[in-house]
Amino acid sequence: TVIPLADRFGRVATDLRVSLTDRCNLRCTYCMPEEGLAWMPREQQLTDDEVGRLIRIAVEMLGVRDVRFTGGEPLLRRGLVGIVRAAASLSPRPDLMLTTNGIGLERLAGPLREAGLDRVNVSLDTLDPVRFQALTRRDRLDDVLRGLAAAAAAGLTPVKINTVLMRGINDDEAPALLRFALDHGYQLRFIEQMPLDAQHQWDRHTMVTADEILASLSPYGLLPDLVSRGTAPAETWLVPGHVDAAGEPARVGVIGSVTRPFCGDCDRTRLTADGQVRDCLFAREESDLRKLLRDGAPDAEVAEAWRVAMSGKRAGHGIDDPAFLQPTRPMSAIGG
Ligand code: GTP
Ligand code: 5AD
Ligand code: SF4
Repeated sequence: TVIPLADRFGRVATDLRVSLTDRCNLRCTYCMPEEGLAWMPREQQLTDDEVGRLIRIAVEMLGVRDVRFTGGEPLLRRGLVGIVRAAASLSPRPDLMLTTNGIGLERLAGPLREAGLDRVNVSLDTLDPVRFQALTRRDRLDDVLRGLAAAAAAGLTPVKINTVLMRGINDDEAPALLRFALDHGYQLRFIEQMPLDAQHQWDRHTMVTADEILASLSPYGLLPDLVSRGTAPAETWLVPGHVDAAGEPARVGVIGSVTRPFCGDCDRTRLTADGQVRDCLFAREESDLRKLLRDGAPDAEVAEAWRVAMSGKRAGHGIDDPAFLQPTRPMSAIGG
């Protein structure tokens, strides 16, 4: 029997985001410093079997229906295909998604699809190779573009692109990115930058807002989308005159986490690569499931600890609160 992950505001978490590693092969300037971060020691990282067990508990005992794999960069996780295959064998079978920077996807899209992955979201902030190198500190734009194409060819669709716009760096590129996405049948979503960078340099006054993003897309004559957002972070607009790869009206999304918060509809629970439950991206406290697993706790006890962890979830991220404190764990170790 399922006893779900409910909180005191009536929200129920059915969407699990699993970070599989805190490592990354890019160094996006808004995410981490050039030298990288102090990576998590291997022995602290959950094993593939431990990850599989926690996903099984979430699906069978807690009512989780969607599982998204994140990082760092999840394609760096050696056991990824096996972890996906194990999750796809659960019943009821969860929807399985992946958020990646796309490097290595060219090779892995087919095997991941075969293992049961349903779709991917790929991060891409610029189409200009010189900018890409400046932004990510690596010269890998071509790998990302080939990864996107491979994902579409493998049927990991709809393929979505996540773009963070930064003032003076790539905020002039929104129309070109949308053109690219429309041409290839990818669904583009622009993301407001959140205070989750390792360097703590986020500044609300330089953040490119949802309103600014939409204004820069005015040449497209976007129309309000009557399909409701539901619990998804992205608000979508229809792009008149265009269809996506499935022949549906083309859409573009904006994830306005800061200026248009959606915490009231949040259906997420998060697991870090070292086995900590986070009830929110911005959680200040975590609950240690790895210790329970390694101490030999039975499934029911792990499930109950997860429920307790989620029950104290706060109403919202509190970014606008004068007392707001950025979480100590950076985005790259939470999984976004
Ligand atoms: P879809 O199911 O395809 O809509 O995925 P998604 O947008 O939920 O996931 P993805 O990993 O692509 O995340 C896109 C952006 O949304 C990233 O910047 C995430 O950090 C952000 N995001 C995801 N979940 C949450 C959340 O619960 N709260 C906030 N504030 N941002 C989130
Ligand atoms: N705010 C918003 N999105 C971010 N991402 C990375 N750091 C931040 C941040 N501080 C994006 C990545 C990726 C997605 C998972 O989150 O670019 O597309
Ligand atoms: Fe890697 Fe993602 Fe951070 Fe870029 S934003 S350095 S791709 S974890």
